[in-house]
Amino acid sequence: MSLSATLPAAPPVTNGIYVDDEKLDRIQSKVLDFTQYPHDVATLGDINIAPYSATVGATVHGLRIRPDSDVAPAVRDFLYRGLLRHGFLSFEPGTVDAQSFERLVSLFGQVKLLNTPYTPGSGKTGQLNAIDSSIKRTRMNYIWHIDQSFQNVQPPFTSLFAQEVPGTGGDTVFSNATAAYDLLDPALAAYFESLTAVHDVETQGFLTLAYHDLAQRAGQREKYPSIEVPLIRTHPETGRKQIFANELYTQRILGVTRRTSQALLDVLFDAISAPEVQARHRWTDGVALIWDNRTVQHRGVPDFGGKRRVLHRALVL
Ligand code: SIN
Repeated sequence: MSLSATLPAAPPVTNGIYVDDEKLDRIQSKVLDFTQYPHDVATLGDINIAPYSATVGATVHGLRIRPDSDVAPAVRDFLYRGLLRHGFLSFEPGTVDAQSFERLVSLFGQVKLLNTPYTPGSGKTGQLNAIDSSIKRTRMNYIWHIDQSFQNVQPPFTSLFAQEVPGTGGDTVFSNATAAYDLLDPALAAYFESLTAVHDVETQGFLTLAYHDLAQRAGQREKYPSIEVPLIRTHPETGRKQIFANELYTQRILGVTRRTSQALLDVLFDAISAPEVQARHRWTDGVALIWDNRTVQHRGVPDFGGKRRVLHRALVL
């Protein structure tokens, strides 16, 4: 008989410490419980909503909207529930055109114009704004953010329509900020919940870059004073917690040193950056998309060189 046949199997080892399955779970970083996220395809007549990634987003197939078309309340409810479930809905080309895009958006609320010198008013009614690479020189859309998190009330939804997009590149990435919260160690999450942060439009120089006219810039500065908000917020409709801190607008955490504040914010920004809570949305001309600003954070990807990229944006209240 060989010597190895007489000895019990050695337990697995990490750094010289014997471990068992239960300990393996405890000593490694957390993985998400994917049963908490919808993976089924929902269907209503000819329309279906299919998941885009394991934790965020869905594609809507089979819906056609014309500028003056009536949309049945049941369809509107189906889409609204889909949006709350998935965090964003991407509508296949042919669902809307440039004229009917605002009709689609109106199913979710009222469009509010918020243009800047680099994102001028656009669309049929001038209530949208254009994110047009031939005009826009600021790059704030490439930093993770929640739209308008520097204001006490944010638009619940934002929508984009792709008029002209590069064949490759220029994707928009979405991070499910509730899934990112779920990735946190529970004790750390409880600590984060006790903290408040300052949000400011100028955290990354938004006004300085966008408003070259000093009087206009001062006017904007006055309009948007800093605000204090919880680091973690609860979604008013789903009841789920969300990381509210974002790289574009969160300036610092109150009650700790500047370095501690940055270290803690980096923990949250790391969670938002985890691929398992993200979907990278690839555009094609004619695609419309709407996201729930209370669930996801988003950013564009500036990897399309000198090619043209034109998206029209609607902030929905
Ligand atoms: C946005 O931040 O509203 C647009 C993101 C993008 O450019 O993809």
